Amino acid sequence: MNKNAELIKSVIADVPDFPVKGILFRDITPLLADNRLYRLASEMMAEPFRDRPIDYVACVESRGFIFGGLIAEHLGAGFIPIRKKGKLPRETVSEDYGLEYGKDTIEVHTDAFSKGKHVLIVDDLLATGGTVQAAAKLVERAGGVVSGMTFLIELSELNGKELISEYNYASVIKY
Ligand code: PRP
Ligand code: ADE
Repeated sequence: MNKNAELIKSVIADVPDFPVKGILFRDITPLLADNRLYRLASEMMAEPFRDRPIDYVACVESRGFIFGGLIAEHLGAGFIPIRKKGKLPRETVSEDYGLEYGKDTIEVHTDAFSKGKHVLIVDDLLATGGTVQAAAKLVERAGGVVSGMTFLIELSELNGKELISEYNYASVIKY
């Protein structure tokens, strides 16, 4: 890891047994409170995709939104929200998935992407990969092409990268 990644890692707080016993929660809120580090983190997430033709940044509610807006701005791309079930007002496609500490359902508007447009999926953290795998399925079912995925944090021992082995992905810091 380079110096900037070490700096970002140094302000992420470790919270044992949250949200359930046995989970070590990586809390990004101290990073977000530091304007310089928040901006640096989003620039580092965007950097590997800077020379790619990214039309849209698709972000997973909620923590994906925190970085997705800045990354869309850095890359000159549109922002597409992938939301938890029941939040989007028009026709959606929907995927159920499991994650490190539970299960959930995410949705995207059926007409969110024009056919064949290039999409970068953004989330704060890759753990089991269940969330981002479901997000990729949604993008594809809605007609987009997943050009890449970017995360601030990768929890390596949970091996999320195996679920997304067909995609190009980047992460800024690893545990
Ligand atoms: C967290 C995180 C990722 C997901 C990663 O979201 O923001 O989206 O878990 O876990 P996985 O790789 O095992 O799927 P969470 O569902 O807790 O929602 P939040 O962003 O609303 O806090
Ligand atoms: N999302 C899934 N697993 C997580 C963890 N250990 N810390 C923070 N967010 C998470």
